[in-house]
Amino acid sequence: MATRWGILGLGRIAHKFVQDLLTVEGAVLHAVAASDQARADEFGEQYGATHRFGSYEQLLTCPDLDVVYVATRHILHCQNTLMLLNGGIPVLCEKPFGMNAHEVSQMVETARSKRVYLMEALWSRFMPTILKAKELVDTGAIGRVRLVRADFGFAANPDPVGRLFNKELGGGSLLDIGIYPLFLSYLMLGKPAQIRAAATFGETGVDEQCGMTLTYDNGAMAMLDSTLLAKTDCVGLIFGETGTIRIHGRFHESTALTLERPDAQPETFTFDRQTHGYEYEIRHLMQCLSEGRTESNLWSLDNSLDLIALLDAVGAEAGISY
Ligand SMILES: NC(=O)c1ccc[n+]([C@@H]2O[C@H](COP(=O)([O-])OP(=O)(O)OC[C@H]3O[C@@H](n4cnc5c(N)ncnc54)[C@H](OP(=O)(O)O)[C@@H]3O)[C@@H](O)[C@H]2O)c1
Repeated sequence: MATRWGILGLGRIAHKFVQDLLTVEGAVLHAVAASDQARADEFGEQYGATHRFGSYEQLLTCPDLDVVYVATRHILHCQNTLMLLNGGIPVLCEKPFGMNAHEVSQMVETARSKRVYLMEALWSRFMPTILKAKELVDTGAIGRVRLVRADFGFAANPDPVGRLFNKELGGGSLLDIGIYPLFLSYLMLGKPAQIRAAATFGETGVDEQCGMTLTYDNGAMAMLDSTLLAKTDCVGLIFGETGTIRIHGRFHESTALTLERPDAQPETFTFDRQTHGYEYEIRHLMQCLSEGRTESNLWSLDNSLDLIALLDAVGAEAGISY
């Protein structure tokens, strides 16, 4: 049976997501909702949504919805998700899941108490390249991981009212892109023992750049950074005692990694695709629903709680507030 999707919030990412959704067998775009009826109509017309709503609340009245993708700005994720969960509707919510651990805890507690599916749209977790990197680490291909190095930077349009530089909209590099290097270190090394972090702030008060150094009880380290001011390599490097995994840029959406080991030719694994890469999280979620799960077995709600706790800790250390 088809999975009938709704989308709440019709900005830039919603367009990219729906283009991939329409490539997934068994996925149907059932309803869209924006804060503006004209935007809902235009989006719905473009992608063929059956129901088009000019307010988010109207989604609750939509018949036969199986799951809703929340694609609003960070500051609305918690509010939008709670509304849907309380209406009994499963949710896939964009990253960052919430503005802080308090918000994410509310979302998780509501989903668990109501036994309604909830997942953070941390799309990188479901990418074949990341799955391969994790498999290589878990099977000991590079020995014990000693250092993770990852960066994410691009020269963003410095629009002071746009989402990225606007403090009131939860702007700044950490929540928007710093989350990806942190995710990679968490996936490979787990929770750190100590976090050091520093940030630089622009005229609007948001963190334009953030550097993070994480240390672990077993002596491992992670060196991570994010910047909205310059294009960086966006490479994910996992250094182990007996080899290196090099996730090609941009690592969070990469289609290739290279395994480098002494006395062996470098081995490159590629995972070509014609899409943006959102179909992996979409298929995973649909598989979870068909198995009757209420959370993901690849990126659980505990994982999301851990990640937002790391973001909170980095923010506190670097003096970033919202
Ligand atoms: N996973 C990824 O790869 C990825 C990539 C980019 C962003 N994101 C995340 O997705 C979320 C949304 O990011 P985004 O880049 O899509 O933000 P965006 O383009 O600014 O859109 C977000 C919201 O802005 C509103 N909006 C868009 N165009 C508008 C207009 N012309 N006038 C008034 N309002 C307008 C929309 O409201 P309506 O609800 O009324 O439509 C929409 O909900 C963020 O939390 C971000 O972190 C994830």
